[in-house]
Amino acid sequence: MSAKIIDGKALSASIREQMKGEAERFENTYGRKVGLAVIKVGANPASEVYVRNKIKACEEVGVKSFSYNLPEETAEADIIDIIDTLNGDENVDGILVQLPLPKGVNEKRILARILPEKDADGFHAVNAGGLMLGLPCTKPCTPAGIIELIKSTGVSIAGKNAVVIGRSNIVGKPAAMLLLAENATVTICHSRTADLKAHTLNADILVAAVGIKEFVTGDMVKDGAVVVDVGMNRADGKLYGDVNYPEASEKASYITPVPGGVGPMTVTMLIKNTVESAFRCKGN
Ligand code: GUN
Repeated sequence: MSAKIIDGKALSASIREQMKGEAERFENTYGRKVGLAVIKVGANPASEVYVRNKIKACEEVGVKSFSYNLPEETAEADIIDIIDTLNGDENVDGILVQLPLPKGVNEKRILARILPEKDADGFHAVNAGGLMLGLPCTKPCTPAGIIELIKSTGVSIAGKNAVVIGRSNIVGKPAAMLLLAENATVTICHSRTADLKAHTLNADILVAAVGIKEFVTGDMVKDGAVVVDVGMNRADGKLYGDVNYPEASEKASYITPVPGGVGPMTVTMLIKNTVESAFRCKGN
């Protein structure tokens, strides 16, 4: 089988077009633009690229971005002060702190400080707990994008065996929760999983979020599986996924490319979270 490509760029473009309309409707109704504050601490090269893409997407869609580029040595208390100010700023609907943070800054304390209503990334414990309990909440962007990508194939998720490789708070765990909410039978695999291949060969839906270049080889993929590659591994000046694309696309029915799959959807879901949060704050 030669897999069909799940085009994250095209899906992103259509959702961003909708968001542009929604952002315009917000501005016409409330007399100001939807606002997103983006805080970056230090100069992690990958974070520089991600943050640039997020700010560019805001501009495209008509969301006003408030950008904070803080030096590596910024004290935690100063980051907290900025978050407190943004929490109280009525022009700011969403706040995100790009991860990872420099050593010495307590990520948990920082994320806990963002008002859950303004938590554009869905990383606050209130939102993470809401996801677990099935309450209305802001969903983390990459996992939410993964679900949209799978749904775009027309393949139904309910009743399928879904295997997520990776158990991070940002991707693996919330992706598993969202797949569960769609009635998949979900297995989370990780670095200590015994006989990983036995699990992946049972996966109708396989989500790879391990952060290791081409970790998932063709022999690990079930015939006809939907494969979602979350990997962004830079090597010899190129971007590689967590999946060996040429091999896996011989087995899968649908597969996301890297780049052009999950990446653009992460940014798009961030914009969607921010626009929705803006309307919610106004009682919509
Ligand atoms: N670092 C890697 N992915 C993400 C993300 O989705 N949001 C934030 N804030 N930081 C990240």
